Amino acid sequence: MDRIRIVGGHALNGSIPISGAKNATLPLMIASLLTEDDLTLENVPDLADVALLKRILANHGVDYSVAGKRRGESVHAGETLTLRAKAIVDTTAPYDLVSRMRASFWVIGPLLARMHEARVSLPGGCAIGTRPVDFFLTGLEALGAEIDIDAGYVVARAPGGLRGGALRLPQPSVGATHTLMMAATLTRGDTLIENAAREPEVRDLAECLVKMGAMIEGAGTSTIQISGRDRLNGAVHEVLPDRIEAGTYAMAVAATGGDVLLQGARADLLTAALDALAGTGVEVTSTEGGVRIRRNGSGVDPVSVSTAPFPGFPTDLQAQFMALMTGARGTSEIRETIFENRFMHVQELARLGADIRLDGQVATIRGVSRLRGAPVMATDLRASVSLVIGGLAAEGETLVNRVYHLDRGFERLEGKLSACGAEIERLRA
Ligand code: EPU
Repeated sequence: MDRIRIVGGHALNGSIPISGAKNATLPLMIASLLTEDDLTLENVPDLADVALLKRILANHGVDYSVAGKRRGESVHAGETLTLRAKAIVDTTAPYDLVSRMRASFWVIGPLLARMHEARVSLPGGCAIGTRPVDFFLTGLEALGAEIDIDAGYVVARAPGGLRGGALRLPQPSVGATHTLMMAATLTRGDTLIENAAREPEVRDLAECLVKMGAMIEGAGTSTIQISGRDRLNGAVHEVLPDRIEAGTYAMAVAATGGDVLLQGARADLLTAALDALAGTGVEVTSTEGGVRIRRNGSGVDPVSVSTAPFPGFPTDLQAQFMALMTGARGTSEIRETIFENRFMHVQELARLGADIRLDGQVATIRGVSRLRGAPVMATDLRASVSLVIGGLAAEGETLVNRVYHLDRGFERLEGKLSACGAEIERLRA
């Protein structure tokens, strides 16, 4: 298995191009199942999760082609991915694929809406928590689906097609909102989703669905209204920039010091995280070209945060912010409210010398004057990148093992960081 080797202690200076958002790309790709026409997505990041979802969609009969990234073109431009679900050849999403990426469960919505049946493996456990699918199932039932669980599979049927319905999510789940919104676009009648997730990726998906002919209002707020259609058409859509990637590099610069322009990053998608960073004493400026992060001289002040659904502080930046707080001038508290087990980075950060006490959902971090490099183990995507941040700030050498977690969600991580002066390289297995 590949490893990443970091020699810490270098400030980051320069600019980092921000890729298209992983968590927008995945539902947008799944939306291709809703139409027999071409769906072309621009600014698609080159990530392991995107590659895996291409395979999963191909299994359902989706053809795809990729343009861009040819020799001579800018390596910073994302791919242009065209997906075409002319005919759905299989409505089963098998365990061996779904268990490798939870978001692939979301195919259940479009498959059921278009084919009136779907058999999708339950996604199973996940490193960051139990992550059940009850909201999806109750929501699909509200749209007229009949649901059975058989041998680890959700078997969903809607003889004659889905119909509109009214439903309220018990909690604003991102995946359930994506799935139910997609399903509701191809129904008879009107659908109302209350307590919907307000994440920017939900709005991005809705914008694409509207280009495909869907009738959706309110995406990006907690109440979404959808009027069903009998068919959708193709569209061309550009994926929005990855706010979590941008926030991650912002925290890396805050941890090492330096001055970096996050090219293409949108401050309006990152308000809570940038406010927290500004509270630590880091200079955050929103410019036309992106977001500029600057920290010179002295260290960072402690800031306590609590994760929350958008527009709150994102759970997907909790580990990275904790890595930053390990070096703060004082004590901070980080509360995780979205996932019950998203603290696996704590013991690995401790291997770098961090002083963190965990009590239920609250981590208390006492800043130390310096971290020291060590071998560490990546456990999930965001936890792994927090170890990279720790390694960049630490003295000496850090070796991050199990790098495949990073490849799921960070495009050209070593390249982007080393272009700004970091000493970081991939050691191929
Ligand atoms: N939940 C239920 N039942 C359900 C659905 C969700 O109890 O049927 C609970 C979850 O267990 C969790 C909460 O609701 O406690 C919120 O989970 P949500 O459904 O919003 O998460 P998700 O859709 O599975 C997406 C992102 C995650 C991100 C979360 C929260 C993608 C592909 N995944 O997951 O991203 O952490 O929203 O913002 O968009 C990552 O990129 O590293 C990542 C884990």
